[in-house]
Amino acid sequence: MPSPALNSEPPQTAGYPESILSIRGLEKSFGGQKVLKGLNFDLPEGQTTVVLGPSGCGKSVMLKHIIGLIRPDAGEITFEGQRIDNLSERQMKWVRLRIGLLFQLSALFDSMTVRQNLEFPLAEHKSLSSGQQARQVAEALDMVDMAGSENKLPAQLSGGQKKRVALARALIIRPSVILYDEPTTGLDPVRAKGIDELVVRLKDRLGVTSLVVTHDLVSARRVADRIVMMNEGRAIAEGSFDELRSSNDEFISGFFDSAGSAAQPSGATHEHESTR
Ligand SMILES: Nc1ncnc2c1ncn2[C@@H]1O[C@H](COP(=O)(O)OP(=O)(O)OP(=O)(O)O)[C@@H](O)[C@H]1O
Ligand SMILES: [Mg+2]
Repeated sequence: MPSPALNSEPPQTAGYPESILSIRGLEKSFGGQKVLKGLNFDLPEGQTTVVLGPSGCGKSVMLKHIIGLIRPDAGEITFEGQRIDNLSERQMKWVRLRIGLLFQLSALFDSMTVRQNLEFPLAEHKSLSSGQQARQVAEALDMVDMAGSENKLPAQLSGGQKKRVALARALIIRPSVILYDEPTTGLDPVRAKGIDELVVRLKDRLGVTSLVVTHDLVSARRVADRIVMMNEGRAIAEGSFDELRSSNDEFISGFFDSAGSAAQPSGATHEHESTR
């Protein structure tokens, strides 16, 4: 947190809060294709970090390493000071209690109701009475503005509502970190904005640390405390939205130009005090 430190104490580590998650030298190949090529990454606690980068650069593969769905060829991942890349599947459950992932596609179970979808992680991780479960389901749905939808099936929900329910399912176990893979992709601008507001709400109300992977520059700008740019399996730059947008680096400015006429749609500026 930026403190009202007067002139005496210089900020530590370039002013960032402590990192809750660190990735060092992560490498991963699939077949002959090297996807992660020595990725270094830090996730400051209590903040929202956005990862931007072109399709195929390894963003989703990075997220899957964090929760142990993919194991690295080389490198280390530490979470809360403990190395997690080499944990057994059983030990990994501890990590998955603390780190929730919102998958790129919402990945709800289509044959289960909203309630059953949300109870699923609870049953995996906690032994609660059915009354406690129902209360936690209701609270999680309320947090994403989907109160009362317990008995619906995914097919009865819009794309934006599915994302909200998927988010409720990620947060029902009260994780300290939430990973979002393209949370606004496929949503219209109004629903995308609604999801962005939820990301901010979870940070403000629950103190959740977030890592948001996106192509959506409008969304990145709304939610990010800090942005990391990835390309070809490495993190190549970091900074605020405005710092990166004004970068002289050819790749970064090209990415912002091509991804981003959307970053400054007419009328978007009223939400953002800082324009040029
Ligand atoms: N399980 C897997 N087996 C083989 N190749 C994979 C696997 N997972 C990912 N890849 C490959 O790794 C590369 C990076 O994939 P990844 O899904 O991380 O991209 P991304 O940066 O998330 O892209 P997008 O923005 O399109 O989601 C791609 O070329 C992909 O085909
Ligand atoms: Mg992806």
